[in-house]
Amino acid sequence: QKHALNDMYEAHDLLRKFYHHLLVNTKQGQEALEYLLQRGFTMESIEKFQLGYSLDSWDYVHNFLKKRDFSIERMESAGLLVRRENGENYFDRFRNRIMFPIFDRQGKTIAFSGRALVKGDEPKYLNSPETPLFNKSKVVYNYHLARPFIRKKGAAVLFEGFADCISADRALVHNGIATMGTALTEQHIQLLKRSTDTIIICYDSDAPGIEAANKTADMIRDHGMHVKIALMPNGYDPDDYIKEFGEEKFQTDIIGAAHTYISFKMIYHKRGKNFANEGDKMDYIESVLRETAKIDSEVEREFYLRQIAAEFTLSLESLLNQQSKVGKHKK
Ligand code: CTP
Ligand code: MN
Ligand code: MN
Ligand code: MN
Ligand code: MN
Repeated sequence: QKHALNDMYEAHDLLRKFYHHLLVNTKQGQEALEYLLQRGFTMESIEKFQLGYSLDSWDYVHNFLKKRDFSIERMESAGLLVRRENGENYFDRFRNRIMFPIFDRQGKTIAFSGRALVKGDEPKYLNSPETPLFNKSKVVYNYHLARPFIRKKGAAVLFEGFADCISADRALVHNGIATMGTALTEQHIQLLKRSTDTIIICYDSDAPGIEAANKTADMIRDHGMHVKIALMPNGYDPDDYIKEFGEEKFQTDIIGAAHTYISFKMIYHKRGKNFANEGDKMDYIESVLRETAKIDSEVEREFYLRQIAAEFTLSLESLLNQQSKVGKHKK
């Protein structure tokens, strides 16, 4: 069994180096490299995150592994090869993609995610399947590099994607991590909790990203951790934002200005509402009161209620009254 796992680690390590070499040093990798550079990735990031390129071939990796005496069945269990539906044939899982190696906490390569180079090549990101080395509901991308910075800063910045995490690192946000196209799980939280009590969510500022941020913020808060939510102008993701507005603005105006839980909830509940409409206005006030009722500190509760009172020229008393009615979820 140990032998099987060692083989899987070794194959991942060899392929990480091979994919990286193809991207950085070869003619076949040139288009992929140009794509990354044009997107704003630097050679330094490409080295640091060991990005690579998989050849546009069905059997190159298959032969590469065979030549090195790896068991082909084992390489299929490791997710590197795929078995044809009927028959004994295997083909390369990753073809003509930008390769992002996934590292474990010790920095060993345990999986890959391959981004399509060709528009319309589905899926956009192809991940390794569940294997004896890799379970995506447990793995946190970039945790091995980010952990000392998470400790030092007292917070982890949570991104949706690899590109966001890598661009943020270039913007000196070194405490960034990402999940792999899945929601944050119980296991992710338990892992992060060992290094910090604060998570700054920095998901894409598009409709699905904001919905996900809302759910994730509640989940983190339910685990007794502090949460902040960084927002960008509508439609941007962190990688787009950094490319357009620069690294400093990302640090100060986005991460540095991350919203508190309640301030985010106010923005969240405001979306799509028209305050010229009385019904919308009442819905909004009620939603916010439901959120403020969850706050333990009376001083903090009053702070937000005063904001609402001022914004809608209402009395603090009537808001407090209403809060005690809707606040049946109050702890
Ligand atoms: N994802 C995935 N499969 C897809 C699309 C997305 O696994 N078909 C995951 C990837 O981990 C991706 C993350 O979800 O990084 C966020 O998705 P998205 O915002 O669509 O991608 P970006 O990270 O913005 O990728 P890019 O900038 O390269 O388009
Ligand atoms: Mn290199
Ligand atoms: Mn997205
Ligand atoms: Mn995105
Ligand atoms: Mn993006």
